[in-house]
Amino acid sequence: MQDPVSTSVADVAGVYAELVDSRKSARGFKPDPVPQALLDQVFGVALRAPSNCNTQPWQTHVASGDKLESLRKKLPEAFMKGEFTMDFPYDGKYDGVYKERQYASAEALYSAMGIKREEKDKRNVAFMRNFTFFDAPHVAFLFLPEPFGLREACDLGMYAQTLMLSMVAHGLGCCPQTALSFLAQQVRDELDIDSGNKLLFGISFGFEDESHPSNTCRTERAALPDITHFHS
Ligand SMILES: Cc1cc2nc3c(=O)[nH]c(=O)nc-3n(C[C@H](O)[C@H](O)[C@H](O)COP(=O)(O)O)c2cc1C
Repeated sequence: MQDPVSTSVADVAGVYAELVDSRKSARGFKPDPVPQALLDQVFGVALRAPSNCNTQPWQTHVASGDKLESLRKKLPEAFMKGEFTMDFPYDGKYDGVYKERQYASAEALYSAMGIKREEKDKRNVAFMRNFTFFDAPHVAFLFLPEPFGLREACDLGMYAQTLMLSMVAHGLGCCPQTALSFLAQQVRDELDIDSGNKLLFGISFGFEDESHPSNTCRTERAALPDITHFHS
């Protein structure tokens, strides 16, 4: 391993670019639990995420073992019965270029899984895997305490990406999931969480199963000039 003192800025920039590039949503995991010492390290690094006035307006609850197995049974049943309890509105409808990107990402995922557009049943089965956490051994549920709103939700997003990069840097795969927030009260009940904590999304994580077809999916990104506008 390289001596950290002699590591140049270019080396660090290269490692960072590689880390960001290698993070992708993983939707297939090995059953092996992540050792607690590694969990402490991964979540400890993420504590350095920035936030407005350093308020750190987030609470993370990690479900594993029996708690997770109970949720893995209850959530698909609740979703199928339409027992939605989301804390934040969601309609999943996009227009224009945003709709194009939404369709392209769905297409990338389903074609990686060998599922055609017209195979609605197979797409539903693939979607329902959200509620069994893509077989992951752990889920981190990210809560926004009341009375926080839009600005603090942005803080939580920064925490989430810092956390996911930490997971990837430590050899783990992960998938952020708004789908899990559709059943916020069921998650709170299972983990005995106060109703003043509002669920924004969950992150299923663990050691990636590289043989799962969904994990060959690679999504595109907009070009630099479409997103970033330099003014001088
Ligand atoms: C906040 C957030 C919520 C997401 N919710 C879901 C979800 O419910 N289910 C899912 O399969 N993917 C979900 N994703 C993953 C996105 O589809 C994915 O990030 C996007 O297509 C880009 O692909 P990549 O993560 O592989 O780079 C979510 C991503 C984010 C950032």
